[in-house]
Amino acid sequence: MHHSLLHRTSKMPLLLALFSLLSPIGFAQVNPKITIDLKSKGAQISEDLHGIFFEEISHGGEGGLYAELIQNRSFEESRIPEGCVLDSGWIIPPRTEHFGAHRVVDWKMPFEAKSDYPAWSMTSVGNAKANISLDLQNPLHVETPRSLKIDIVNADASNVVKIVNDGYWGIKVDQHATYRLTFYARPQGYRGDVTARLVSIDGQVLAEQKFHIRDVNEWQNFNGILKAKTSHQKAKFELVFSSVGKVWIDFVSLFPTKTFKDRANGMRLDLANYLAELKPAFLRWPGGCFVEGISVESAPNWKRSLGPVEKRSGTYSPWGYWSTDGIGYHEFLQFCEDINAKAMYVFNCGIACEMRSGVHVKDDGVPAIIADVLDAIEYAIGPKDSKWGSVRAANGHPDPFPLKYIEVGNEQVGVEYAKRFNVFYKAIKERYPQLEILAAMGIAHLNQPTIKAIDKMDFADEHAYKAAGWAMNYHDWYDKYERNDWKLYVGEYACNAGVGNGNMTAALNDATFILGMERNSDMIKMSSYAPLLENVNDTDWPVNLIRFDNARSFGRISYYAIKMLNENKASYNLSTTVDAPVTKDIPFFTGGIALSTWDTQAEFRDVEIIENGKVVFQSGNAGNNDWHFVGGKWSEENGVIAQRTEGAWPMAMLQRKTFSNYTLKLKARKISGYNAFMIPFAIKDNDNYLRVHIGAWVNKIAAFESVSKGGDAIVSQPVRLENPIEINRWYDVELRVANTSVECFLDGKLLMRYEKPRDFFAIAGVDEQSNEVVVKVVNASAQSRKVDLVLSGGTVNHKAKAITLSSPSADDENTFERPTQFIPVSESFDVKGQKSQYDFKPWSITILRMKK
Ligand code: AHR
Repeated sequence: MHHSLLHRTSKMPLLLALFSLLSPIGFAQVNPKITIDLKSKGAQISEDLHGIFFEEISHGGEGGLYAELIQNRSFEESRIPEGCVLDSGWIIPPRTEHFGAHRVVDWKMPFEAKSDYPAWSMTSVGNAKANISLDLQNPLHVETPRSLKIDIVNADASNVVKIVNDGYWGIKVDQHATYRLTFYARPQGYRGDVTARLVSIDGQVLAEQKFHIRDVNEWQNFNGILKAKTSHQKAKFELVFSSVGKVWIDFVSLFPTKTFKDRANGMRLDLANYLAELKPAFLRWPGGCFVEGISVESAPNWKRSLGPVEKRSGTYSPWGYWSTDGIGYHEFLQFCEDINAKAMYVFNCGIACEMRSGVHVKDDGVPAIIADVLDAIEYAIGPKDSKWGSVRAANGHPDPFPLKYIEVGNEQVGVEYAKRFNVFYKAIKERYPQLEILAAMGIAHLNQPTIKAIDKMDFADEHAYKAAGWAMNYHDWYDKYERNDWKLYVGEYACNAGVGNGNMTAALNDATFILGMERNSDMIKMSSYAPLLENVNDTDWPVNLIRFDNARSFGRISYYAIKMLNENKASYNLSTTVDAPVTKDIPFFTGGIALSTWDTQAEFRDVEIIENGKVVFQSGNAGNNDWHFVGGKWSEENGVIAQRTEGAWPMAMLQRKTFSNYTLKLKARKISGYNAFMIPFAIKDNDNYLRVHIGAWVNKIAAFESVSKGGDAIVSQPVRLENPIEINRWYDVELRVANTSVECFLDGKLLMRYEKPRDFFAIAGVDEQSNEVVVKVVNASAQSRKVDLVLSGGTVNHKAKAITLSSPSADDENTFERPTQFIPVSESFDVKGQKSQYDFKPWSITILRMKK
């Protein structure tokens, strides 16, 4: 796990799978009803609604989409980001003033490289003897100054020295497949051969080729094709030396000859196919936080990412590893063309992310950034005889690429950013009025001060990382947005907490979220799930769309949900009402209770639980051992249960008790610290529960929160406290837990209320091309739902089609072993007139297509 945890904990809300954990099994449902007015014509649905977002995170590119098989091919991986220093294992960016905070901040990140030459090692066979070291003398290219020096003091034909590369957690070798090898070597007193090999873990040679080196103390380039005799899942690559002398090696590269569209320096076939099959309308690149870099100097630079790959210096990803820039600007544009997607280029606007160091280019540096981005645009779409268009042509692509969108930075907000945005917008629009310019926004909301300070924008890019249940709780989130003269792009969205590695609960949440976006398609014109790709050997961010290792890959259920919703996008919306009453007679909040704090010392007393008017528990009975303490420093004396340390979520859990419908009363007193009181309830186990948090956000708000193994997240609209919780004052706290609602009282006054979220959602539209009514339905419950389908204002053909993505349990996931266990299934069904019925499966996403 990377430094990204630092980033993540501060930015990422995390929450539990409310539905899978709390939905009672087997309760009776009232039939929902979907009423569709076939005559109504709502908002047009954007062609570009579903796109994708690629970022170098979790080795999505390096050891992922980029088909290179050799890790650290240029020996640059132990470089620290430019402009930064290394101090006791930490990367320290320049300590300049944070653009937002207006002070120097002490943000730093751990340096992950564990060796001078990660992924490489040496083995000597028999009496062979050699030393290897990283070397900066006589580089192959100044841009890539490092090479590996091999000083062989003893070796012969049977006592050899092997320089071994592990690939990206192994190299997948397929029988009869061919692999394109290139490497550079510079010998000094080495008179012999070098053999390149692919070998299995137990040393079996899978493919090999011998090269003769001339001892001329100059860099020599070697190329060959390795043809595999046998398959192996986790092979290694070796360069085998059998003579004494010194040899430097650099840029050792191995690609499968079969890449996506057979491009040299191309993309890994299975992963590129997943992306192509999503039929994304656009591709956003290169980030994300990646765009910011760690320092201004180390931020990605499109010009450095062009041209011969062995000359590309690479970029340090803020996700903790070196990127070769193998997928450079040209490859990005080419890939967009190859998958028939428009290109969205995000450029570094000279301001870093508010969560990091905040180093920034001062105003006098802005003209250079403008010139640079105009060059980038010219490279993509300028005439082939323009300055940069001719470079594109020289790189093999005389025709323009499909660049359509330009985003100014990533996740930056504030007036400073807005001022800068205005300058970029004007400069780009003046030259390229056909392009659409996007303003970055923060996570989870549109930043109003930023928007007010922006003169004109085409799109605002809001990011929406949400926990399980959020999409259901806030299914009408976008309905409430004020409409403006700009459009909304949900540039990063995902239900990524409380959902295991990305299970059916995640898919149901993602689908509900998409339905909400589609319903608001007068305003939301684009969206992209994030992050897209995850090498499971190095996960930087929880819950990604497509998971893989060196040999295998699979799309999560959410992948198929997005795919089917995109494939069945309507042309315009139909007015649709959904009547899906929540059953009130089954308890939804069953579980244990506890006392807790967060970076706060507090005391609790007079804890009382009342069920059916009877007191069933009272604290303070000495010797009863009522509480089980988890973390923190707890004591129970004279009826007072005290927690006396800092830290997150120490808990005093009431032992052996489960409650469904009850009132919990207690007195609580803050002693010191940042926040105030937390009362966990509906506890399933230490890691799964809901809680009331009074005095969250440094004693400013109260909210219902949810906790899962992954972390916590707010699930209700936060309530601002009239006054912060005072120190040394006893407060009365009361929770009234009913079947489907929880009310929290502070000193006898209702503070906030939480309701069981809805679990059935639908929208409808018309696909003008096929003249079909398309109904999209999410059933986020454990029951199948017989639904009345009422059509007014027209009729449909009785022969219709249903496409269903479902699983027996909300916890189900696709896996490496069963990659397509849960995928959409199509069947036909009969529509019986204007009042028909359809049985929606438990835990399902369904699309009905009915010919008008
Ligand atoms: O998608 C992962 C990260 O989430 C992106 O880099 C950033 O834009 C967001 O915070």
